[in-house]
Amino acid sequence: MAEAKKVFIKTYGCQMNVYDSGRMADVLAREGYEAAEAPEGADLVVLNTCHIREKAAEKVYSEIGRLRILKERARSAGRDLRIAVAGCVAQAEGAEIVARAPAVDAVVGPQSYHRLPAILERARTGGPAVETEFPPEDKFDHMPPVGTAAPKRGPTAFLTVQEGCDKFCTFCVVPYTRGAEASRPVARIVEEAERLAAQGVRELTLLGQNVNAYRGAGPDGAWSLARLLSRLAALPGIERLRYTTSHPRDMGEDLIAAHRDLDRLMPYLHLPVQSGSDRILKAMNRRHRRDDYLRIVDRLRAARPDLALSGDFIVGFPGETDSDFEDTMRLVETVGYAQAYSFKYSPRPGTPAADSAAHVPEPVKAERLARLQDLLDCQQKAFNAGMAGRTVPVLLEKAGRRPGQLIGRSPWLQAVQVDAPPALLGAIVDVRIVEAGSNSLFGALPGNRATMRAIA
Ligand code: SAH
Ligand code: SF4
Ligand code: F3S
Repeated sequence: MAEAKKVFIKTYGCQMNVYDSGRMADVLAREGYEAAEAPEGADLVVLNTCHIREKAAEKVYSEIGRLRILKERARSAGRDLRIAVAGCVAQAEGAEIVARAPAVDAVVGPQSYHRLPAILERARTGGPAVETEFPPEDKFDHMPPVGTAAPKRGPTAFLTVQEGCDKFCTFCVVPYTRGAEASRPVARIVEEAERLAAQGVRELTLLGQNVNAYRGAGPDGAWSLARLLSRLAALPGIERLRYTTSHPRDMGEDLIAAHRDLDRLMPYLHLPVQSGSDRILKAMNRRHRRDDYLRIVDRLRAARPDLALSGDFIVGFPGETDSDFEDTMRLVETVGYAQAYSFKYSPRPGTPAADSAAHVPEPVKAERLARLQDLLDCQQKAFNAGMAGRTVPVLLEKAGRRPGQLIGRSPWLQAVQVDAPPALLGAIVDVRIVEAGSNSLFGALPGNRATMRAIA
């Protein structure tokens, strides 16, 4: 029997890329590929790339440089190492990638992963292949079932339900790299969720670039995300639901009500606002005002008082003044975030804001980012500190660093380290939080004095 081919997939960027990498592995498993632990010794390396900020795209070219050396070494040993670039850099740069990096065999955009075997075959016979069209068919309809590559998985999983973006924020490449908003049909999502539940998944995170813009074909017309969530909440085995990333404009009444009505929907929401200044929000084409966002947060908290919020922020957007930035600081103080991501504005080729004449100097961006991150860190610490002494349900996901220790997640997505037997992996257990660090919590199973001593 021929030796199995090995593929190493390296993932950059957002959770949708993580999900896609898993699905590419499923597609390649059907072609006889097994997962490799490292690029060394692999027959194929797939870089699933991100284009969101300048640094993200640069990383890809330096990685290709390293792989080129491996490829040359493989060749002198009489082997072949093929390199494929997938993801958002593939979509944005297309044929430029093979022009700049001739070691690359194939370039495949995010909507063409089901065609990966055919693209690789084309590259094998005809030299570098580039596929960055947006094909009319849904890639997921033409893939083997989820779990084909790795039927054993941990208790949490991502499930992409929506892709693409029609919002065109003036700083962002996603509408160009992922294409127009499209939602998967309800039946396909339910089928995939059932399969994941059968594989041991207890917590599902529904993904979409604009997940709350979900409008998928249901048995009786288009369904909203709220309806989809309530359908999935009824699936046996799925105990926890999350969704990400949401846009404030699509935070509909029924979705807010879902936070009140669905116990299985976790009390944690990533709801990026980017800026607290109306002027900047307008220049970003976010199409909502600061107050609209604050009102949504109030309604969410009225529906689910223990809801914790997470957000994304950009500092130094072109034209951002000190006073605009202070508006962002004040918004953060008003909302109070449990967690957040913040970035310096990074001009992206082809986006409207990149052409602005009013770029903010780098040192100003750096200073604003440092101030914002201090405030956000403080809020995160305070949020975590508030957990000390409480007992919270934790989904135990994986082994911890120390033997006898497991790591899980609280409903608010905090990592919790706890001494617990491996038999509890995949279970949701009550854990008493003994100590709160800034990035993770330390807990003990109630009644387990040994555990408490070990932690203390
Ligand atoms: N769809 C999501 C965001 C996807 S991109 C939303 O609308 O919120 C993830 C985050 O990257 C964004 O929320 C934004 O904060 C950041 N980002 C996107 N483009 C950027 C750029 N050009 N410079 C800096 N940060 C950027
Ligand atoms: Fe980018 Fe805006 Fe679309 Fe989010 S909503 S993906 S930030 S264009
Ligand atoms: Fe990056 Fe593309 Fe996701 S640009 S953030 S990988 S949608």
